[in-house]
Amino acid sequence: MKVAFAQSAAISVDAALRSQAIAIAFSKNEKEDFELEGPARLVSAIEEHFELNLLDELTFFSPTGKAGELFEIPVSDTDSLTERIFLVGLGDKGLNSIRLAASAIGRKVRGKSTKVFCACVNEVTELKAFTISLSLGSYLWNQKTDKETLFPEFFIATEDQSQLDDVVVIAKAICTARDLVHTPANIKNPAWLSEQALSMGKEFGFNVKVLAGKELALFGGLRAVGNSSPKPGPRFVELSYVPRSAKKAVGALTHVVLVGKGITFDTGGVSLKRPYDTMTAMKSDMAGAAALLATVSVLAQLQPRVRVTALMMCAENALSGTSQRPSDVITHFGGTTVEVINTDAEGRLVLADGLAYADKNLDPDYLVDIATLTGAATLGLGRQYAAMYTRDQLLAKSLGKIGAESGDKVWHMPLIDEYQDSLRSDIADYNHTADKEKYSAGSVTAALFLEKFAGSRRWVHLDIAGTARSEVDAGENPKGGTGFGVRLLTDWIMSL
Ligand code: BES
Ligand code: MN
Ligand code: ZN
Repeated sequence: MKVAFAQSAAISVDAALRSQAIAIAFSKNEKEDFELEGPARLVSAIEEHFELNLLDELTFFSPTGKAGELFEIPVSDTDSLTERIFLVGLGDKGLNSIRLAASAIGRKVRGKSTKVFCACVNEVTELKAFTISLSLGSYLWNQKTDKETLFPEFFIATEDQSQLDDVVVIAKAICTARDLVHTPANIKNPAWLSEQALSMGKEFGFNVKVLAGKELALFGGLRAVGNSSPKPGPRFVELSYVPRSAKKAVGALTHVVLVGKGITFDTGGVSLKRPYDTMTAMKSDMAGAAALLATVSVLAQLQPRVRVTALMMCAENALSGTSQRPSDVITHFGGTTVEVINTDAEGRLVLADGLAYADKNLDPDYLVDIATLTGAATLGLGRQYAAMYTRDQLLAKSLGKIGAESGDKVWHMPLIDEYQDSLRSDIADYNHTADKEKYSAGSVTAALFLEKFAGSRRWVHLDIAGTARSEVDAGENPKGGTGFGVRLLTDWIMSL
């Protein structure tokens, strides 16, 4: 993805005419204005503004202004570099409509080297939503060897280009998170993931510490899961962001600690996933960790005055002779013992170590975990909203709002104390899989388990099992990784 800026209205016609396509928007209000005179009026307005001639016979189309509706109108001048106009519906001009419109333009030129000049929105928040969705709609990942992968180039009309510099950083980071999720698990083992973190740390300027092998002695959950694939085995990756201006006075800054599930492939282990085809989506089971890595890379570029430590809990949940068994008892970081029931509930085991480590060693002001944790989250909320658990009502409210505005939507779910019983074990401090027949509510009981490891911190759990991956190629999302969480966490941290 490439984005450039046309700085003023005066230059914009010029810049527009250097592009193969010009995207302009049409909202429902404008529809009423034009309705009386018919689409001919609209066409002549475009022709006048850009000094172009459009193909006559196309004056018979009838745009409704519905968000994301897109008409392609050919330019008839043979000497013009601009070949077509994209007339895109902007609906009610709300942020959701803007996102639909922008992703429709992005999709239209996905895989093409087309230059598109976009003059669709004006306000800063609109430009932000527009630019990010434009790049998400045009996102493409594949390993096909038959033809070169091409990328479009976007020019965005804005009065002030500095407004959009930060936005482009976020858009690129979401695409990086998607790339990590799309990478297949034969390449993406925990060691590979830790190497990606190291190289991004070098590129963007944040600190990365990796623990492996014997260094993980205290991380009983991460080892129990990750030793199912002993070569290369699990990795604990700690990313630290401290603003450049505050290296000495770190203590005074708000400290956010993020913990991400980084299961590079989830077979279920000995409690093998069935039916087996539910397994093919499980290279996405590291989407939480990917979102953290991408978010920290954004923060290193935007330099907010907060301190952020992100823990990527990386392991493969394989089926092998070194897999853990249902009925094993493990000791987590900090000493809590857990009876393992279903080895497919591996996410909470690796997260528990991360949360306990954060609580005991990092003194966080906020502790947030993000994980593709339960199929039950998808059952409850579908694929548009992530399940958010926290006892802090104010924080929930603010994350809910930031989520809706950013496009990474979250819904506040209850931590139901009546279900605490489900974590009772006869032989360990906790049992790790609630009895499904007795309790249902698999996403809630998983959250209650995690809470035990968060101490008395201000804690939020985001279950992104539904939102991290799209099963359809539609709107902002390709089939596959969505990069969910990068916008939410970035905007929230920037607001602290
Ligand atoms: N990674 C899965 C959850 C998941 C399922 C994510 C579908 C995305 C799509 C997780 O490790 C898992 O297997 N959870 C089990 C827990 C159960 C065994 C208590 C589940 O949700 O079925
Ligand atoms: Mn699992
Ligand atoms: Zn999993």
